[in-house]
Parts: sequence; C-alpha cells; structure tokens
Amino acid sequence: MDITILKDVFKQHYGSADAVYASPGRVNLIGEHTDYNGGFVLPGAIDKGITLAIKANGTTQIRVFSIDYNEEAVFGLTESDKPEKGWAKYIFGVVREIEKRGKTVKGFDAAFYGDVPLGAGLSSSAALESAFVFALDDLYGLGIDKFELAKIGQATEHNYVGVKCGIMDQFASIFGKKGNLIRLDCRSLEHQYVPFNPTGYKVVLIDSCVKHELVNNPYNRRRESCEAAAAAIRKRHPEVEFLRDATFDMLKEVKNEISEEDYSRAEFVIGEVQRLLDACDALVKGDYVTVGRKMYETHAGLGKLYEVSCDELDFLNDSAKKYGVTGSRIMGGGFGGCTINLVEESKYEAFIAGAVADYKAKFNIEPKIYDVVISDGARKIE
Ligand code: GLA
Repeated sequence: MDITILKDVFKQHYGSADAVYASPGRVNLIGEHTDYNGGFVLPGAIDKGITLAIKANGTTQIRVFSIDYNEEAVFGLTESDKPEKGWAKYIFGVVREIEKRGKTVKGFDAAFYGDVPLGAGLSSSAALESAFVFALDDLYGLGIDKFELAKIGQATEHNYVGVKCGIMDQFASIFGKKGNLIRLDCRSLEHQYVPFNPTGYKVVLIDSCVKHELVNNPYNRRRESCEAAAAAIRKRHPEVEFLRDATFDMLKEVKNEISEEDYSRAEFVIGEVQRLLDACDALVKGDYVTVGRKMYETHAGLGKLYEVSCDELDFLNDSAKKYGVTGSRIMGGGFGGCTINLVEESKYEAFIAGAVADYKAKFNIEPKIYDVVISDGARKIE
C-alpha cells in the first residue's frame, strides 16, 4: 500500500495527519527460544511492517482505525479503558506501559496498515507495538531511549496480551539496520551489527500458511519449563541465572529432579545457545555451509526436544533437504508460520518450484514465498 492511501484514509476519518511512522517485522537466522533464557539471537529487521499516520487530538480519547480490519477502536487512557478488539489491545498496552514509566501520553488519532503477514512468525505484533511506541515518543517528545522503547513493546505482550515473550522481536524492530543482522545478548542487551551479504546465496521464507491454535498457551509453558530447569540447576550452581549459563553436564546432574519434558526443553536451549555462537563464527568467515548445518540442527531440536514444530513445517524442512538447500529451519515461536531457508542462488528456482508443488500436493495449501531484504528499524517517514 502507498502512504498516500494511508493519509487519505486518515483524512476521511480524522482530518490531516501530522506525521507518518513505520516499524518492521523481523527474521531470525538462528537462536530460537534463547531470548527469554538470557541467550543470544541473530535477527534482522525486514522490509515489511506496520505504517501509521498520527495526530494529537487534544482530548483524553484515543481513536485508531485499522485499514486491514476496516474497523475503528475508541478507548481512553486509563487502566480501566482496555478495549475489546484484539489488535487495539497492543496499542492500549503501549500507551499504558509508557504511562507506567512516568511519561504522559494524551489523546490521539491514528490510522495504520500492515504488509507483514499475520501469524507467519514475522513478528507483526512487535511491528505494531514498535510503530506506536516510536511514534508516541517522537510525537510527544518523551525522550525514551531505544532500549526502553523495545522493553515497552515486550511489557505490552506480557501485561496486555498474555504472551511472556523475550526481547528479540521488539529489539529487532526498533534497532534494525539495513543490510545487517543483530547479534544480541538478550541478558545485557549488548549487541553488534553483523553485515549480512551472503554472496551466491539467497534467504527465502516459505510460509506454511498454517497456524495451529493451541490451548494452554504453549509458548508460556515452554518458558516455564526452562525456568524450572534453570532453578533446579541453580540450587547446585548459584551462578546459573538463566539456562544460557548452564552446561549439559549441569543439566544431567538434575535429571532426576525435573520432569522429562523440562529436561528436553532445557537440552534444546543449551544446545541452541552454543549453535548460535558457532553459526556467528562461521558467518564472519563466510562459511555458509556450517551456518546451514546449524540451521538444520536447530530445526531438528525444535521438533524433537522443544516440540514446537508440526507436520507442515517438517515437510518444508524435508523439501529443503531434497532440493539441496544449504540450511533450513522453523523461524519464530513455531506451531506454524515460516521456514527460513539459506539457498544457493543456482538452486533457488528449482527449490521454490519443487517445494511449492510438493507442499500443495501434500496439504492442498498454496505456501507463500517471501524474499527477505534486511532493512532499517522504526523510523519517521514524514
Ligand atoms: C516469539 C517471541 C520471541 C522469541 C521467539 C522464539 O517470536 O516473541 O521473544 O522467543 O518466539 O525464538
């Protein structure tokens, strides 16, 4: 969508906008479910996200129009004003989290649209949170630093959406830099930009177009398992704050003290923290074969030990192997969404054609293909 359409829609509802902002979704090359374990991740912002037009309205009301849902939400600024609509809760949460930090947000009007696919594991929700927190900070001159902007998005998920996520998605959406992945230490938030220009390769996402709605909030359950395992290890090794600090030997010591399930989850995370570091070393050397091998190992672990895969994603991963793709794995939280694939340019066409045809034949669903362009984070457009 063109931003002139966005501004036109804003005008129809609220008069002319003061400013336009955008914030992206993300990919993550490797390091999955490590963020809430204090470990490392390797995400990058992408060229798809949320774009919004906004203006202060001089009242105590917030009026927001979602172009994609073609509906408006109207709500107040106080804790008891929580809106009903799912998408509006993210915006309300951002406003509340800003207020909790002692800053004042006043009433505003906004309209927004997204070109980041929903439920595909590309962090459409972080893009939405980041777009609003960035815009409100700038609009009202709140002077919130970028780390805190990311934390406000994360706290919105925790306190207003109910997902106890890590910091990866919001961090990538705020700190993204064109052509660079971010090697982020999720405990200290120290980060380095890693130029990503894999000559001779392409990074492509294949969207399974399934999202298995699961009861019992499996994401939060995974996090609880990790925390239980870390707590058991900490009794013997007080220096272990997160699973990121643990070794396989430490985990083995507590095997009889934690459930089998918690054990498997922790086994995955401890392996994944190391895999990411190995993949980063390989990346710096331009050794994409090793990076790819680590990606396949991650997929296997996410399926067998972490149990966040599904038939569709396993099928796409097998397709990647069949067509000689260098690396492939589930990306994001799991249970559906995309695989991320690192593929030699010479094999790209055959892989896409073959994987799409095979997947359609098996599941009667047309998977979607997204070529990835690593782009800048949250910004003011005009
Ligand atoms: C989701 C969460 C992130 C992260 C990933 C898995 O995207 O929002 O914080 O935990 O899953 O790596």
